[in-house]
Amino acid sequence: MRILQVSAELFPLLKTGGLADVAGALPIALAAAGQDVRVLLPGFPAILAGLDDIAPLAELTTPWGDSVQLRTGYVPGAGAVPAIRAYVIDAPALYDRPGNPYEDAKRQAYADNHRRFALLGWAGAQLAQGLDAGWQPEVVHAHDWHAALAPAYLAFAPPNGRPRVGSVFTVHNLAYQGLFAAWHFAELGLPPAAFGVNGLEFYGQLSFMKGGLCFADRITTVSPTYAREIQTPEQGFGLDGLLHSRASVLSGILNAVDDAVWNPATDTLIPHRFDVRRPAGKARCKAALQEELGLAAEPDAPLFIVVSRLTEQKGLHLVLGALDVLLAQGGQLALLGSGDAPLEAAFRERAARTPRSVSATLGYSEPLAHRLFGAGDVTLVPSLFEPCGLTQMYGLKYGSLPLVHRVGGLADTVVDCTLEDMADGTATGFVFDPFDIEGCTRAMRRAFALHARPADWRRVRAHAMRRPADWAAAAARYITVYEESLS
Ligand code: ADP
Ligand code: GLC
Repeated sequence: MRILQVSAELFPLLKTGGLADVAGALPIALAAAGQDVRVLLPGFPAILAGLDDIAPLAELTTPWGDSVQLRTGYVPGAGAVPAIRAYVIDAPALYDRPGNPYEDAKRQAYADNHRRFALLGWAGAQLAQGLDAGWQPEVVHAHDWHAALAPAYLAFAPPNGRPRVGSVFTVHNLAYQGLFAAWHFAELGLPPAAFGVNGLEFYGQLSFMKGGLCFADRITTVSPTYAREIQTPEQGFGLDGLLHSRASVLSGILNAVDDAVWNPATDTLIPHRFDVRRPAGKARCKAALQEELGLAAEPDAPLFIVVSRLTEQKGLHLVLGALDVLLAQGGQLALLGSGDAPLEAAFRERAARTPRSVSATLGYSEPLAHRLFGAGDVTLVPSLFEPCGLTQMYGLKYGSLPLVHRVGGLADTVVDCTLEDMADGTATGFVFDPFDIEGCTRAMRRAFALHARPADWRRVRAHAMRRPADWAAAAARYITVYEESLS
């Protein structure tokens, strides 16, 4: 099947979060399953710089009358990983800005984001309508609000005698919806019928997310539990009614882990490699990280790690609230994150107070993230909500047992160390509910209790590291959804 994936980020070219990891890994897994997959990306500087063999394809006039170039190229492969054909929208006036793809240096969303991302969806629909004479997709797969207008443009495209193109929209996070003032609708080149309660209108505003949810043939999200949660008022962000009405075409497909990037047996970003059978390298990774971060060189102190965007979603105030217990029990904390200023300040202050036990690196570093998973004993992911979550899966794979709130994809990927699940050999981490400091602290104390029983700890860790998290299984499920989108 010919599949066009449309996304704003793609690892390793550009990443602000898990979306990029998924957008990078899924096409490779689809290609391995024999599919003919290409990707469409906005021409952010990092993307243009990272693509190989860029060549012009077409000159386009946007719905609001500007000229932009569509180019082709390749996302580079490496070793057994194939290169992936890419289309890229070269529009410097929209995309050539330093820093974050969505916000300016003051963390304000760019005022023309409706154009910057309408263009992404619109270009996807143009490709579906035969813009590239050499390759026309059978299915367009759009990710998150940035690409969500692709299904809307497709739904209103004039029939052109070609076979109908299927559309699939994946929600990675319902909290980010792409909301704009309604008067911008006139710039988008969509017919008035697209703006209504059964279209892009959302409480008087223009919602890109609704474009994907209303007009895609199939909707997916990134875990089965989140697929159910977003149909409830608590987690539906006002879209639960719509999602519920589309439940027959909505499914949850759990994300997986890209083994070429995240595998402690082959990872060149960690100082010592290890696996279930040869775990010694993990202890050496821990010693190296303690030294690097100025933490006390204590091999037996449980090392808790956080690798996260610092936003309300991630529930990290619970870590701050439980930190005294963590330190009183002899644990250490190493955090890598960036985001909301008050959270950054709080962790910076805690690290300054007890630098031998708490380290906070504020910023973004892919290599340090790998070193943290390699060294950690426990990965903290106490999110208020979590569509899927990748860091708990990296924690599993690197034997840094996840401690998570029972929500969304966290609930689908981590099994608590209860006595019965330990007896069955299914336990892989620590799961708490309800979402409060007390719940988080109790899970932390379970982690200390297990750590004090080294044989049990090793057994749970080995089970966690063996948990299958292969993209091949997820890709097979996406292929089924692509087929359904055509039926
Ligand atoms: P989300 O997409 O909501 O941020 P995920 O758990 O799905 O959450 O994915 C987060 C991704 O971003 C992971 O690959 C994680 O390692 C990475 N990440 C988050 N913060 C940082 C950081 N400060 N430095 C490096 N990598 C980070
Ligand atoms: C979003 C979600 C996260 C998910 C990621 C990739 O950023 O917040 O839970 O893992 O997308 O699907």
